Amino acid sequence: MMNKFNVKILATGSYVPEKILTNSDLEKMVDTSDQWITERTGIKERRIIGKNQNLSDLAFEASKKAIEKSKISINDIDIIIVATISGDMPFPATACILQKKLGINAVAFDISAACSGFIYGLSIAKSFIESGAYKTVLLVGGEVMTRITDWTDRNTCVLFGDGAGAMVLQASETEKDVLSVHLGADGTYTNLLNMPAGGTAMPTTHETVENKLHYIKMSGKEVFKIAVVKMAEAARKALELSGKKDEDIALYIPHQANLRIIEAVGKKLGVAKEKIYVNVHKYGNMSAATTIIALDEAISSGAAKKGDIITVMAFGGGLTWGAAVLKI
Ligand code: UT7
Repeated sequence: MMNKFNVKILATGSYVPEKILTNSDLEKMVDTSDQWITERTGIKERRIIGKNQNLSDLAFEASKKAIEKSKISINDIDIIIVATISGDMPFPATACILQKKLGINAVAFDISAACSGFIYGLSIAKSFIESGAYKTVLLVGGEVMTRITDWTDRNTCVLFGDGAGAMVLQASETEKDVLSVHLGADGTYTNLLNMPAGGTAMPTTHETVENKLHYIKMSGKEVFKIAVVKMAEAARKALELSGKKDEDIALYIPHQANLRIIEAVGKKLGVAKEKIYVNVHKYGNMSAATTIIALDEAISSGAAKKGDIITVMAFGGGLTWGAAVLKI
């Protein structure tokens, strides 16, 4: 079916904080080693947000770059969607705080789909634009994971980092850049990856703080196995929906949680290593920020060229997963 409005990707932008935490820094904090982290995850360093920064600041920097590159007037933005699980406050939405920082009058809300948040956001942006509800969307994936990380837990603290990425999407009658999006979720696995306290099921008390329940808890091994299966499945489904073939895909941009997951997904899909974008060594897992930052870097480095068809895929808490086929 031909839509009246298709979705054109005008530009992307990204921002990571300056402070770098290396594996050798972590060796001084917990019982770990550069060798273990490198071999088991592929991560060498990650970025840490500055003391005076919040997620809305990272989102603002990434958005500014995407808006500048898109050459639209900032007031053309009709709606701001921020995908995050580490917003400035439980409410209001970080998107509203970002709206104020940008100084515009757009509709604004957050979505919570953990590491899959950016792909979920793409689906929402696509639906809004195709339905004619909104013309220009600013979609942000951003996280401050290091403020919800238990720095005494070696099982999780070596994995995460901070950053934000943004994309400007607009209705077009002639061009179609978001070819397909496939999403999935399975709430029977909520126990595998979560932050137990601070919601209304377990409000903050002295005990929740003492018991470190305001930090990320993860059963890494179980999450690993499901991630490989579901990301590969999502990539196949998105490809099918797009009407494209395997050989049409120039580059795969998977969620960057663990190099071993990325390699296993590549193997499952039968994709050559050269066709898979990797930046996990530089940033670790930035949850909802990961895929959009990787996409922005792939474009600016030339790994993804104008006109390329690419697949982005993600997996995370919920459990949630998703993939999208895009024309760059
Ligand atoms: O963003 C989406 C969601 N997240 C993911 O996709 C992450 C999925 N999971 C993973 O990436 C991996 O499971 C981890 C990196 C978290 C762990 O790797 P693993 O190969 O599954 O290791 P493991 O949990 O089986 O642990 C192996 C050993 C354990 O010791 P024992 O029990 O065998 O004596 C851990 O205690 O490694 C130990 N270990 C560490 N050792 C040194 C765990 N963390 C560390 C560490 N340094 N940082």
